[in-house]
Amino acid sequence: MKTKRIGGTFAAEIDDLQLNEASLQRNRGDLHQAYLDHKVIVLRGQAITTEVFAAFGTIFGKAEVHHVRAMRHPQIPALTMLSNQAEPGRNDVMKYFGDGWHADSSYKPVTAAATMLWGIEIPDAGGDTLFANVEAAFQDLPDDEKTFLRQLRLRHQYRWSPNREDPWARWKFVGEAERKDTPEVIHPLVKRHPETGKESLHIAPRIIGSVIGVEGMDAVDSDPLIDRLLAHVTRPAYVYRHRWRPNDIVVWDNRSLLHSATTKDLPAHQVRRMLRITTTGSALVGVTPEAGVTTVVPGTEFD
Ligand code: SIN
Repeated sequence: MKTKRIGGTFAAEIDDLQLNEASLQRNRGDLHQAYLDHKVIVLRGQAITTEVFAAFGTIFGKAEVHHVRAMRHPQIPALTMLSNQAEPGRNDVMKYFGDGWHADSSYKPVTAAATMLWGIEIPDAGGDTLFANVEAAFQDLPDDEKTFLRQLRLRHQYRWSPNREDPWARWKFVGEAERKDTPEVIHPLVKRHPETGKESLHIAPRIIGSVIGVEGMDAVDSDPLIDRLLAHVTRPAYVYRHRWRPNDIVVWDNRSLLHSATTKDLPAHQVRRMLRITTTGSALVGVTPEAGVTTVVPGTEFD
């Protein structure tokens, strides 16, 4: 299996592998290692079945079932269906699922490990996915800033929004069962990758990424700190832009990256449909006693 670097500091293409049951068995270890080494791996031209896609997903862990019921594939709940079209039973906001920087399930007690997308219908142009190498961006910060950040904890809640009039606020389409699945969670701001041991920031934009703020800090100090870190980690030097072709499969590591869809910019006649699998990662472990480990705030399920 050959890998070719396609991004500046990360992301690789594997172009000599056609996925099927036999090749999956032979290449499980190498595919998993390539994903850890390159953070994003791209396989082109995969005209496969849903079963092969689901089997491919098991290389990267156990599939997580999306807490927003309407996003689930009706027959195979572990698959999420992404579409920029009006689909039955879906709120219009769901057309733009994934727009804005975030890491999958970053606001849950158990965060995601890998996510993979299979591009079924791809627009002629646009609808790219962006990836930011947060791990590299953290390493590049000055030592005294890294020391300060290592002590902090960040409050997250999926439905949180500082502006209840914001049409993007998630609480507008989240039902009772979904609210129960999304209490407030406090994660260490600096985490250690459970497989590679490397340090990275666990951060996201406040509204899109469900980040309330730094625990114990007023918004007046916390908001600019979060905004400044986000501006740093999403600088062009840390970003790989994936331009989709039909039947691309792209796998990424949520534990060291942020990503963003760009579907809001697509005209409606440019159809973009994808299938997605996200695998379960772990609660987070900070790198100092002050940052501790992930905790759930009791009684916040229905806020
Ligand atoms: C996602 O955020 O999981 C989807 C990204 C995309 O559609 O490009």
